[in-house]
Amino acid sequence: MTRHFLVDTDLSPAEQAEVLDLAAELKAKPYSHAPYAAEGAGRRTVAVIFDKTSTRTRVSFAAGIADLGGVPLIIGAGDSQLGHKESITDTAKVLERMVATIVWRTYAQAGLEEMAAASSVPVINALSDDYHPCQLLADLLTIREHKGTLAGLTMTYLGDSANNMANSYLLAGATAGMHVRIAGPEGYLPDPAVVGAAEQRAAETGGSVLVTTDAVAALAGADVVATDTWVSMGQEDEKAARQELFRAYAVDAAAMVHAAPDAVVLHCLPAYRGYEISADVIDGPQSLVWDEAENRLHAQKALMTWLVARSGTPGTTGSP
Ligand code: CP
Ligand code: NVA
Repeated sequence: MTRHFLVDTDLSPAEQAEVLDLAAELKAKPYSHAPYAAEGAGRRTVAVIFDKTSTRTRVSFAAGIADLGGVPLIIGAGDSQLGHKESITDTAKVLERMVATIVWRTYAQAGLEEMAAASSVPVINALSDDYHPCQLLADLLTIREHKGTLAGLTMTYLGDSANNMANSYLLAGATAGMHVRIAGPEGYLPDPAVVGAAEQRAAETGGSVLVTTDAVAALAGADVVATDTWVSMGQEDEKAARQELFRAYAVDAAAMVHAAPDAVVLHCLPAYRGYEISADVIDGPQSLVWDEAENRLHAQKALMTWLVARSGTPGTTGSP
């Protein structure tokens, strides 16, 4: 059965740990796995489609696919028939005949689900309006490198708590057995369905979930403090309002006083210094943002290797 990665919970807790272990292995030995060049692999090309802009995701997938013996085919918004002349399903039916994996950054989660339903090769969510699960694999790898463990740690996210990063922190953190706290203003808190899914995961793993409007309560003793832009891609028209709305949830020196003294700081980048995070924090000693960015490469290489291994040889599972 083809495995896809559309949302953080597509990996069970044990599977997430396997992918993180493989990521650490690939970080130590970058060329130890070459799933796209393996005898009988069938196809070497990986389609990487961007409906939104990207630096880290684009470069980490392109470099990672090359490291794994594959050939990245980057398709920008408007470069293909997808989205205007051709349906998602028809696009999937063509791509699955030619590529080993489909990576897609897009708007609607439903589009990714449609692509996966029609594809016999793995489909990876490279960010949607709802989730950014590849980013969370990199974040968890980074935390594990610096703290030695994930389960039992408290991870606090402040800011726009209705966005893709907040949802992925909830789901991936709970899957890892972490105590996830999300704080943002009323009206910008996560969808109860996502909170429910995270609570279900936390019940399996021994983690927990807290959603609150109280930034100080969320920060108390936190081991990990994370934030994200207040203006996600597609929300540019709301920029001025959002920069006011989330002001009480900025990760700055005053906020960090409430976290554990050895807390680490994450931001998926791009960052807007002086808004969601202050320059002294993101450029200070507690910040792991550059390790976090690098770990996109290692985590996604592990993810692609893992998905391909569990999905069988491309071309043998496709539609007739
Ligand atoms: N963090 C992240 O996904 O960055 P890009 O938008 O540059 O890919
Ligand atoms: N929430 C941000 C993440 C960018 C990597 C966005 O969707 O624009």
